[in-house]
Amino acid sequence: MNVSDSERVATKLASEGYEIIRDASSADVVLINTCSVREKAEQKLFTQVGRIRQKYGREPVIGVMGCVAQLEGDTLFQRAPSIDFVIGTKAIGRVSEAIESVFDDTGRKASVSERASTMPDDANRSAWGTLPNGRVSARRFEKYIDLGERDIDYDWAVAERQRHSKYVAFVPIIEGCNKFCTYCIVPFSRGRERSLPAAEIIRQVLTLMREGVREVHLIGQNVNSYRPTTEAGLEGFAGTTPFSRLLRAVAATGIERIKFTTSFPRDFKPDIVEAIEEHENLCNWVHLPVQSGSDRVLKVMRRLHTIDSYKKKVDRVRSSPKDIALTTDIIVGFPGETEEDFRQTVELVEYCGYDSAYIFKYSPRPGTPAYEMKDNVSAAEKTSRFIELERVQRDVQNRRLQRYIGKTLKVLAERESTKSNIDISGHSTCHKVVNFPGGRDMIGTVQQVRITEIKSNSLYGEVC
Ligand code: 5AD
Ligand code: SF4
Repeated sequence: MNVSDSERVATKLASEGYEIIRDASSADVVLINTCSVREKAEQKLFTQVGRIRQKYGREPVIGVMGCVAQLEGDTLFQRAPSIDFVIGTKAIGRVSEAIESVFDDTGRKASVSERASTMPDDANRSAWGTLPNGRVSARRFEKYIDLGERDIDYDWAVAERQRHSKYVAFVPIIEGCNKFCTYCIVPFSRGRERSLPAAEIIRQVLTLMREGVREVHLIGQNVNSYRPTTEAGLEGFAGTTPFSRLLRAVAATGIERIKFTTSFPRDFKPDIVEAIEEHENLCNWVHLPVQSGSDRVLKVMRRLHTIDSYKKKVDRVRSSPKDIALTTDIIVGFPGETEEDFRQTVELVEYCGYDSAYIFKYSPRPGTPAYEMKDNVSAAEKTSRFIELERVQRDVQNRRLQRYIGKTLKVLAERESTKSNIDISGHSTCHKVVNFPGGRDMIGTVQQVRITEIKSNSLYGEVC
């Protein structure tokens, strides 16, 4: 979601005449997108801000967006006076207003906008920057903050030039989260669930197809909680949930490949697997975060699924003739997680045979219910559980991936490999990274690749 936000902000600014550059050292404005799901995100941000000042020996305008911006708001100005503006997760459509508020072509202190809060006194200084029209302007003296709601006419599209790939595009279908898992900051940083109308999603997919995109990822914190307020775009598409109807509607556009993430286990209905089975272009990959193998821990996490119900969904995925790859997220060391709870997680990983798993050490997030619980699994214990689970998953994965040896996968060639100058890198429909010898002319095409080797996090093969 964060990459997708950055792409949309770049799209908006470019359409208004700003030049988007990846190298922050020569930028007039540096925008830092932040994520606070894990780790000490705020600390990382302050280090980054400090580094920008030290490294460049001058002060570009610094703006902060993303979860940390939304959660910390104007306290960021006190903690890092170099930050000029703060844009919340739903205010990114107004990023140019934030930039304009910092620059003023008369050099006078411009009026404080409705949303602007005042700055600490010590930030009374000026600097110089270049506006999109080339004018050199004095920096305005207020700090600017916008934590407001999304504009009704917010444009979700991403311009071709701003996408991370020419051939793969993210399409947000739902934002926010209503689930409030006790460890998670997302419902606070991203707000309540809001689904985009299917008609708008279809329109975007059709535009992307015209631009040469071959694979779309329908994204959201919980894609299967998709519940638009209008039927527009879903008419004529059957399914037991709006999400499976949307999958069928997007499949009907004829785009070559469709992937989706993330699925919330409780709402992952068999009809989703049926839709995948019906449509060639719905890819054979499901990301189904389990978080823990212990019912007791799942309950305290408020995940709303049990191990039994989760296993039934996994069984359905596994029994599909479409050979659907299954991946997950797991947290180790949640407050109160006992050795026995952890053993159950190990057992579950062995049962599910995940194609890959993202394993995280629990990290307390201020403001979440779990933050109030005693973080009583020591750091050393978290690390040892993390290492053990990684080892178990690696073994499971190696065994599981053997089934691809000698098989032919359809791989979208996306780029030249960074590790070898004769290889091309891409993804299979089951979302494996696949490298194979090939030329630049293959990029953007789908190749039939016969798998010859399994590496730790990728497959290797040759075009057949
Ligand atoms: N600590 C550790 N991992 C977390 N995740 C979310 N919140 C936390 C936390 N507080 C993980 C979950 C989620 C993934 C995106 O990040 O596994 O599925
Ligand atoms: Fe966080 Fe739970 Fe929502 Fe996922 S479903 S974003 S883990 S609250």
